[in-house]
Amino acid sequence: MADSPALSDVRVINISKSFSGLQALSKVSLTVPTGIIWGLIGPNGSGKTTLLNVISGVLPPDSGEVWLSDTNITALASDRIARLGIARTFQTIRLFKRLTVSENVEAGVMTVERGAIDHRVADLLERFGLTEWASTPAGSLPYGIQRRLEIARALGTRPKILLLDEPAAGLNESESEDLLSVIQGVRSDKEYGCGMLVIDHDLRLIMRLCDQIHVLNEGRTIAEGTPQEVRNHPAVIEAYLGHQNQALP
Ligand SMILES: Nc1ncnc2c1ncn2[C@@H]1O[C@H](COP(=O)(O)OP(=O)(O)OP(=O)(O)O)[C@@H](O)[C@H]1O
Ligand SMILES: [Mg+2]
Repeated sequence: MADSPALSDVRVINISKSFSGLQALSKVSLTVPTGIIWGLIGPNGSGKTTLLNVISGVLPPDSGEVWLSDTNITALASDRIARLGIARTFQTIRLFKRLTVSENVEAGVMTVERGAIDHRVADLLERFGLTEWASTPAGSLPYGIQRRLEIARALGTRPKILLLDEPAAGLNESESEDLLSVIQGVRSDKEYGCGMLVIDHDLRLIMRLCDQIHVLNEGRTIAEGTPQEVRNHPAVIEAYLGHQNQALP
C-alpha cells in the first residue's frame, strides 16, 4: 500500500442498493487508490457486480456516495463517469463481436481522444499482444484473447481506475495465468498504470494478484485486509464454507 496520499482514488461511502425488497448492498464503504489492486470477493449474489454497477453509473444507489478524487460522481451517467476516468469490463464479455480487434480498441480510445487515435490503438494492441489479431473479428477470437481485448479496450479510455468483473471467468489455467500477468503489467505500466478493483471467484488468482481484499456477504462488508488477513478471517471462512463448500487457498 502506498504511504503517500493517492493522486486519484475512488471512494465508495455507505452505499446501499435494493431491488424490490432484496437488499443487494447495505452501507458498503471502500476506497481504491491509484496504483493499488483491490480484490472484491464474496459468494454468489453477495453484491459484487451491483457495487461495480453503482460505481460505474450503470445503477444509481438508494443512498450513499461515490467520489473520484474530489468529484462527487454519484449517479452521474455512465459515459460521463467513463470520461472522468473510471473504466470497466463486464462479467459476461461485451465486445463488439463483428468489429475487428483493432476497431474494438479504437472504440475505447475514441471516448477520450480526438487526434493520434491510430497511434494509441497500435500501442495498445502491441502492449497486450493483440497485434497479430488486429484484423480478426472479436467474436471469433479464443476466449482468453477476448478477455485480454476487453482490458485493452477499457484502458483505451486512459482510466484512473479500472473495474474488472470476473476477468478470469471461463478461462483455463494457462489463460488465467496469462491474464494474471496482463493485469500485473497494467499496475506498473508507465502509460496505463491505474488503480484496479477486481472481482473474481478464482480465489487463488485474487490472493496472488491483490494488495488488499474487500469481502462482501449478502450485501454487507464482512472483512477487509491483506490476502493473508482475509484468508484467516473467521467470517470469510464461514461465508465461503457456508455457501460454496469451497476451501480458501
Ligand atoms: N438488476 C437487478 N434486478 C433485481 N435483482 C438484482 C439485479 N441485479 C442484482 N440483483 C440481485 O442482487 C443480488 C446481488 O447480485 P450481484 O449480481 O451484485 O451479486 P454478485 O456478488 O456479483 O454475484 P455473482 O458472484 O453470482 O456474480 C442478487 O440477489 C441478485 O439476484
Ligand atoms: Mg457478479
